[in-house]
Amino acid sequence: MPNQLDFPAAENLRILYSREQIQTRVEEMGRQIREDLHGESVVLVGVLKGAAIFLADLARAIDIDCTFDVVAGSSNKAGTNSSGAVQLIKDLTEPVEGRHIVVVEDILDTGVTLNFLQSHFEGHKPSSIRIAALLDKPSRRIQPIHAHYIGFSIPNEFVVGYGMDYAESYRNLPDIRILEPVPEMK
Ligand code: IMP
Ligand code: MG
Repeated sequence: MPNQLDFPAAENLRILYSREQIQTRVEEMGRQIREDLHGESVVLVGVLKGAAIFLADLARAIDIDCTFDVVAGSSNKAGTNSSGAVQLIKDLTEPVEGRHIVVVEDILDTGVTLNFLQSHFEGHKPSSIRIAALLDKPSRRIQPIHAHYIGFSIPNEFVVGYGMDYAESYRNLPDIRILEPVPEMK
């Protein structure tokens, strides 16, 4: 276990997007999704744990009939490096056949997770699958993926807050901050 006391204090990390900027953008994304769905109901599928806060805010910004589900994948990412393979450790709990799905993800990085999840959800035969990622790091992509809704496209920085963690810390920060330098994992 890393010693959390060795991690930089949140207030020393530079803010990349403030809570106000996030709120404005999430509301825009919600309006766009509502328009695209033409008022039809949707299943919002949050990818745990990072998307929990984004899911909560986006759901309230979409303002149409919706249900929630969550999935959890393990990409063996203990800290900031991905070692590749994704395993599903929690699947959907409600049937989504014939329904619209919006997959809600905190950050699209290498694309490995969403690539895997998209193929997995296709097997559940929804009538459509859209992907909403609050952040995108296009320079890190190793697998192709098309996200229909992107909040902000960012450079290759490691970010924390608004649900996103480093070794499980920082998830509850209301702003998105850059973790620099990235601490050594103990
Ligand atoms: P991908 O499979 O590489 O696209 O991984 C996406 C997942 O990696 C995200 O859902 C996050 O959980 C995690 N991740 C990638 N970049 C960051 C970051 O900068 N901060 C925190 N988590 C990240
Ligand atoms: Mg995630």
